[in-house]
Amino acid sequence: MSRKIIIDTDPGIDDAMLILATLHSPEFKVLGLTTVFGNAQVEDCALNGLRLVELEGNGHIPVTKGCGKGLIIPTEEVGTHVHGLDGMGNTNQPLPKNKIDPRHAAQFIIDTVLANPGEVTLVPVGPLTNIALSLHLEPKIISLVKEVVLMGGSAYAPGNISPVAEANIAHDPHAAALVYGAGWKVTMLGLDVTTKVAMTTDYLERIYQHNTPATRLLQQILPCYQGFHDLFYGMNGTIHTHDPSCLAYLLDPDLYTTQSLPMFVETNGRCAGQTIPDPKQQWGRLAEVNVCLEVNSQGVLDLLFDRLTRS
Ligand code: BDR
Ligand code: CA
Repeated sequence: MSRKIIIDTDPGIDDAMLILATLHSPEFKVLGLTTVFGNAQVEDCALNGLRLVELEGNGHIPVTKGCGKGLIIPTEEVGTHVHGLDGMGNTNQPLPKNKIDPRHAAQFIIDTVLANPGEVTLVPVGPLTNIALSLHLEPKIISLVKEVVLMGGSAYAPGNISPVAEANIAHDPHAAALVYGAGWKVTMLGLDVTTKVAMTTDYLERIYQHNTPATRLLQQILPCYQGFHDLFYGMNGTIHTHDPSCLAYLLDPDLYTTQSLPMFVETNGRCAGQTIPDPKQQWGRLAEVNVCLEVNSQGVLDLLFDRLTRS
């Protein structure tokens, strides 16, 4: 039986890779995409969610729109310098055919988890605002969600949006503190592992050779993402593997070395968004997070290659 998941996402170029690869994975039943601001404005992220489900005939999957800004900290800027003004690399994709589901993303999460007790895995790969709002509105979901497998944060690697913070957490650190501390099982795929998996231009070219709707879309949108990695890190066409790492973990957790660590989320000041492990519990009792610290990067690349190129 396939595993029920909700992807909470801000598509977003690497979000698109995750969504397309997951839709090619019969191990999962995607119950819905819930969209949030982050890589672009939430309106654009929601339209991109619709485009992605429609691309290869999955238009029956509901796509909802959620929060357009953080819970407390006003959103200063979204990640359009990384993902393009449209979140899809400035490629002007055609308008989707279907409509966005009228429910708020947080309500959709609540309704879906209550209707499937113990069965839903949440896969957040954007700012955690929708997830925090849903558990605030209906705390019962905390014990009813199977687990949370998220892309965000960093235990020991440097940040990407600031010297210490990863973008998804920094966009809404108050939401992240609620989600990390809720008491449900959280697995964190942060920069410790996502920056160790490098998709090279050769790897991407080999993906494009498959010439499917998914690979053709990736071929259009990825140059913008590569451009950012080149400008910021001098990576010469290679990209980090952020959001798709969640799929690799869900399919084969043995690709990762994990450690359960008490985790603090800084919500204030210059270091807002930093996720700090406190293994000796010097800051009192903090919720433990299952943190991915090491990765079999070739294993992840092989797995994702297979899933991205399926039709
Ligand atoms: C995260 O931020 C966004 O740019 C990506 O989609 C990913 O979720 C990486 O820090
Ligand atoms: Ca994302």
